[in-house]
Amino acid sequence: MTARKPMVAANWKMNKTAFEARELTQALLPELKKIEAVDIVLCPPFTNLSLACEQIAETDLKLGAQNMHWQEKGAFTGEISASMLADFCDYVILGHSERRQMFGETNETVNKKAHTALAHDLKPIICVGESLEQNQAGETAQVVETQCRESLQAITPEQAQNIVIAYEPVWAIGTGLAATPEGANEVHRDVIRPVLRDLFGAEIAEGMRILYGGSVNAENAGELFAMSDIDGGLIGGASLKADAFVAVVKAAAETL
Ligand code: PGA
Repeated sequence: MTARKPMVAANWKMNKTAFEARELTQALLPELKKIEAVDIVLCPPFTNLSLACEQIAETDLKLGAQNMHWQEKGAFTGEISASMLADFCDYVILGHSERRQMFGETNETVNKKAHTALAHDLKPIICVGESLEQNQAGETAQVVETQCRESLQAITPEQAQNIVIAYEPVWAIGTGLAATPEGANEVHRDVIRPVLRDLFGAEIAEGMRILYGGSVNAENAGELFAMSDIDGGLIGGASLKADAFVAVVKAAAETL
């Protein structure tokens, strides 16, 4: 049993029009607003943040963005800044593997973004995780450790308390092939938590949440969240349907 409050975040990715997003939030609210044991974060597309913010106003739910730029403002056509997001969001996902693979995100840019986010009171959810090739080559621990260390460069222990790490093995994202509870927990407990301990000290590391992401669904969530160092989940596909997401959040409430 840990003292860490579980968290479940919904990563809607590039899905849902404004109308669809409003409907989904509406469908989620009656069940989710009753669940106090879990920190629940919805990460809709940018175009829905303003409306979602109004929809969740009377609840404990929080909003997150899926990305941001590290610069304060200026000539960066198509980008969005931390201060723009801070009007609506408490969290921001940084370094998702889709951004790393398709949009040139690196540990260095994730680190810059983390510093800017924190300066604007946005809590970064920093994603790490190895590719299939790296996994098969036995490089998981080394890859994940490097991603953590480089993404967290020059972050102070005080700042670290506002950071969430999400371990998302690339081979498990959207494939239906989730990591085994034991396999994921090994990475959380034996790779990520020790790095956090080394960087920020034992007490802070113990309090930081490490989410698992990659094909979490209503069926496997309970087993995953029951593990010692899996403090919740970052949910893609299963967050797009109200019933499935509510079931995942309930699993977190029951097992963590
Ligand atoms: P998935 O996505 O749950 O659809 O595997 C998770 C994520 O990419 O955050």
